[in-house]
Amino acid sequence: MTRRSEPGGGPADAPARPLPGLVIAIDGPAAAGKGTLAKRLAEHYGLPHLDTGLLYRAVGRAMASRGLDPGDEASAAKVAAALDPKTLGDPALRGHEAGELASRVAVHAGVRAALLAFQREFAGRPGGAVLDGRDIGTAVCPGADVKIYVTASAEVRARRRTDELAAKGRTVSYDRILAEIVGRDARDAGRAAAPLAKAPDAHELDTSGLDADRAFDAALAIVEAARTASRDV
Ligand code: CDP
Repeated sequence: MTRRSEPGGGPADAPARPLPGLVIAIDGPAAAGKGTLAKRLAEHYGLPHLDTGLLYRAVGRAMASRGLDPGDEASAAKVAAALDPKTLGDPALRGHEAGELASRVAVHAGVRAALLAFQREFAGRPGGAVLDGRDIGTAVCPGADVKIYVTASAEVRARRRTDELAAKGRTVSYDRILAEIVGRDARDAGRAAAPLAKAPDAHELDTSGLDADRAFDAALAIVEAARTASRDV
């Protein structure tokens, strides 16, 4: 699950020297491109990366496979407490359905509490870490060195997700994906427990008009500016 990165390939991706304790928090709504950005930043800085969505996806899928109702908080919290991080590499967790299940179990405060210590320990690794999710800058790592809130219009995100699924050989209608994304945003932002929100000190990065390389360059500029600013203090 800990994907310690390999040194990057091209000059733009040349690995930078990891700073002691560089913690980068990346949040944003569904399909905004957080995962790709987080992975590339982790590679660039030689830091471990945790896709925290996988934790909620694993809980959601475990509930479904046991025939449990994702709305049952007590059972979901027990499943979350018993989660084995070694299972997070399961490719089935990356599927679209797992994302929907994740968002249903993620509303429960008991589930979030059960997953918190693991995420904080990960973020506390000696060299630092990159974590992406919905509440990293607000709840998991409020003291992160750099926070980036990644957004894109719902239409752009739906188009990206539809294309991603098509590339995997799945034909799903754009309209259905758009409706699910809008529904998931509303559930994630509207829940009482650690809702999806931009931390006041997060840098907003709108990737609507950016391809993956330009989004990465923009994120890198944000991190470098924050590192320079903290050195100047
Ligand atoms: O990749 P995508 O943005 O579709 O989803 P994800 O990051 O894997 O997250 C799936 C769901 O897990 C989200 O819709 C949230 O409901 C939940 N989640 C969360 O509540 N808190 C996190 N830190 C990460 C994910």
